[in-house]
This record gives sequence, structure tokens and C-alpha cells, in this order.
Amino acid sequence: MATVLITGANRGLGLEFCKQYATDGWQVLACCRLPQVASELLSLAERFPQISVLTLDVEDFTQIEQLAVQLQDTPIDVLINNAGVYGDSAGQGFGQLDYSTWTKTLAINVQAPVKMAEAFLPHLKRGDKKLLVSISSLMGSIADNSSGGSIIYRSSKAALNAAMKSIALELKEQAVGVLIFHPGWVKTDMGGDNAPLETVQSIAGMRQAISAFSLEQTGHFLKYDGTPLPW
Ligand SMILES: NC(=O)c1ccc[n+]([C@@H]2O[C@H](COP(=O)([O-])OP(=O)(O)OC[C@H]3O[C@@H](n4cnc5c(N)ncnc54)[C@H](OP(=O)(O)O)[C@@H]3O)[C@@H](O)[C@H]2O)c1
Repeated sequence: MATVLITGANRGLGLEFCKQYATDGWQVLACCRLPQVASELLSLAERFPQISVLTLDVEDFTQIEQLAVQLQDTPIDVLINNAGVYGDSAGQGFGQLDYSTWTKTLAINVQAPVKMAEAFLPHLKRGDKKLLVSISSLMGSIADNSSGGSIIYRSSKAALNAAMKSIALELKEQAVGVLIFHPGWVKTDMGGDNAPLETVQSIAGMRQAISAFSLEQTGHFLKYDGTPLPW
């Protein structure tokens, strides 16, 4: 049975990743900050015994290291860095930026995925698929930025892309792959009700691209349907 580890698994895209991989028979390591209040994830785990709900606040690097030790005997096929925050808030754009929020956003959206990669590299190397996935955003694309704004979120996802591209080049010779996704604009707490895409479609598309992945594609930045995106 293949194994996937997902961060931010309690709601939105992370929860849908859990649903679809569990339905497909995968072992799912579903990580979230507060399992005790993750009611949807807990009821999913009741239906699918191959889902393990694990505590992980990705901002807490000691917790990341402890989880890597706790799972040291578990090969991981696919690790999905999904947890993320938006950071920007209304009325706090250029001229009124909240620098402490920016620092926190960079810790969660950039440093944590890199720390996850460092901590779980041994697990990935022992898995069959050997794939590190990070959920980025088209808002991290500098080439695509024609409207400005969202300085905190855009800069965090651009930095995530830069870090993941370097990690891809570094890990290629160890046969570990890296994919970076824009999930589309999706109806979740972050995406809001006006988003055109349902989580089901976004996750099905990314799962298809993950399934078709080969090492020649490592470091690519893809839309959820597998289309390459500009940096
Ligand atoms: N929805 C979109 O349209 C869209 C578009 C582009 C990119 N994305 C990206 O897709 C990913 C998932 O987004 P979403 O739409 O599903 O957002 P969401 O509904 O707001 O969910 C965010 C998830 O991240 C978790 N999280 C936040 N900080 C965390 C931390 N310190 N430790 C562990 N988990 C943490 C949240 O957990 P709590 O419940 O504990 O807060 C939640 O599970 C994010 O990286 C986001 O940037 C989304």
C-alpha cells in the first residue's frame, strides 16, 4: 500500500487530498494542528482505518523533527506540503504592511515546507514514488503578476517556488522528485465562495499529475491540470 503524508489535512484542499487518497486505498498520514477539533477529518478516519491523524503545527520545527522520528520506520511515497496561510489582510497593503504577519507567513509558507523536506528526506528515499509536492499558487508567479497587491502572500509563494526549484535540482541525483502546484482558484476558506473550482476537481487533477510524474519533470511548476506555468 502506498503512503502519503499531508500537512493541513483538516480542511480545504488538504482534507480532500485525504478523502481521495484514502478512497484509492492509500495509507494516509493526515497531519493537522489540532486533531481534537478536526471533526471532518476524524469522521473520515473512522470510515477509513488507513488514515492516521497526527498532530503537526508546521511552524513548530521541533514538532516536525519529533514527527520524523516517530515515523522513522515508515516509508513515504508522496509528501504533500499543503498547509498555508494568506497573510495579507484588508487595509494592510503597501504603506501599512504588518511585518510580523509577513514573518509568520514566510515561516509557514516557505520555511516549513523546506524543513519538512529536510526532516522527511529519509522517509521519501525509502518510499517507491519518492515525490515531494508543495502547494504553491499562481500568485507566486512574477511573470503572471499584472494586478499587484497581496505582497505578503505573493512573496511567500514566490520564495517557496525558488526554494523548491533548488531542492529539486539537489535531490534529482538521489532519485527524489519535486513538483510545485497551483491548485487553481478553489472554494475553500482561503479561496472563498466565489472561486470557480471545487476541491474535488482540483485534487483529482493534481493526483493525476502526481500519478503520471517521472523524474524528468522534477522542479516543474504546474497548474492542477498538469499545464506548465510561468515563474
Ligand atoms: N484555495 C485556493 O484558491 C488556493 C489557491 C492557490 C493556492 N492555495 C494553497 O493551497 C493550500 C491549501 O489551501 P486551502 O485553500 O485549503 O486553505 P484553507 O482552507 O485556509 O486551509 C489551510 C490549511 O492550512 C492549515 N495550516 C495553516 N497554518 C498551519 C500551521 N502552522 N500548521 C499546520 N497547518 C496549518 C490550516 O489548519 P488550521 O485549520 O489549523 O488553521 C488548514 O488545514 C495553501 O498552501 C494555499 O496557499 C489555495
